[in-house]
Amino acid sequence: MLLQHLLPALSLTTTVLTLTLPFNTNHAHQPQDQLTLTIPPNPNPPSPPSPPNIKDDSSCDGTGLIPPTNPNNHCTGDGLIPPSPPSPSPIPPILTPDPTRENFTFENPTLECPYPSQPHIWDSFKTLEKDMTKLFTLIHKNVSFTVVGHHPIAGHYTDLLHFYVNALRRVSVLFMDHKERFEIHPVAIHGGCESRWSVQEVRFRGVMNSGDAFDIINVWVTRWHENQMVEVRTYIDAPKIMDALHKNEIWWNGTTERENWRYMPGPAGMPDLKELEGYMGYPDGRRYED
Ligand SMILES: *[C@@H]1O[C@H](CO)[C@@H](O)[C@H](O)[C@H]1NC(C)=O
Ligand SMILES: *[C@@H]1O[C@H](CO)[C@@H](O)[C@H](O)[C@H]1NC(C)=O
Ligand SMILES: *[C@@H]1O[C@H](CO)[C@@H](O)[C@H](O)[C@H]1NC(C)=O
Repeated sequence: MLLQHLLPALSLTTTVLTLTLPFNTNHAHQPQDQLTLTIPPNPNPPSPPSPPNIKDDSSCDGTGLIPPTNPNNHCTGDGLIPPSPPSPSPIPPILTPDPTRENFTFENPTLECPYPSQPHIWDSFKTLEKDMTKLFTLIHKNVSFTVVGHHPIAGHYTDLLHFYVNALRRVSVLFMDHKERFEIHPVAIHGGCESRWSVQEVRFRGVMNSGDAFDIINVWVTRWHENQMVEVRTYIDAPKIMDALHKNEIWWNGTTERENWRYMPGPAGMPDLKELEGYMGYPDGRRYED
């Protein structure tokens, strides 16, 4: 019942979305705790925002409890408001697909921007498809990078190299055998241009070393400074990443059939083999000859 009352409130159309993100910005750039995204007005706005205390109509109390004797039996308590007459629509902007960019339709195709334009952002993600080294100029070396979720690559990284080694490279080696089939397709870009923050939905497709197909969409929330990402929060499809690691990383891939002829110590690294060899011998104290 509570959820039903919340749903109409979630559909309110806002033109400015302000989120306060409680993360540490302990890198060298100006701390920025406020994310302000400017979203162009919806060309077909729904009915005007309803007051937060939603009722079916003014004679209903919104509890959904209706005494059987109550004549107000039209109060369903479902929180749905009867439609009000449509307000005049502003003229929607004419958005055309960009044939040079996989027919991507830019919400804001402007190129003259104080922050990276949406087409520039599109190009930035696309270029990683064939050349991952572009990452090292696209993202600042002291980036504050958060991989959101509960999975082996999740966490906060305070510089690019730790993110690269622990997360991105660990995943990208799973595609090494089929590099030419790795694809990156930006599917949505919001913000940028007038806003130092932008949000990208990016589709990653490929074939893993195991031969299995891979196809996920990640969300990247990014803050830009001098054409580089200096703060990133990325939301990934955790079950797919875990499945990929499970199928393709030898650490995860044990079976009865595996011959263990190499040391594979796991994240703790190697112990002191000389010390362990010192303990070995026959039960009566004799040492091995070899
Ligand atoms: C883009 O749209 C044109 C016209 O509809 C089509 O011929 C072309 O194949 C499309 N390109 C891509 C990459 O989808
Ligand atoms: C990166 O961070 C280190 C350590 O805080 C600092 O010494 C260095 O100047 C920073 N580099 C840049 C380019 O911001
Ligand atoms: C995982 O195990 C399977 C079956 O034993 C094997 O065919 C495959 O090569 C292994 N993959 C890796 C990365 O070791």
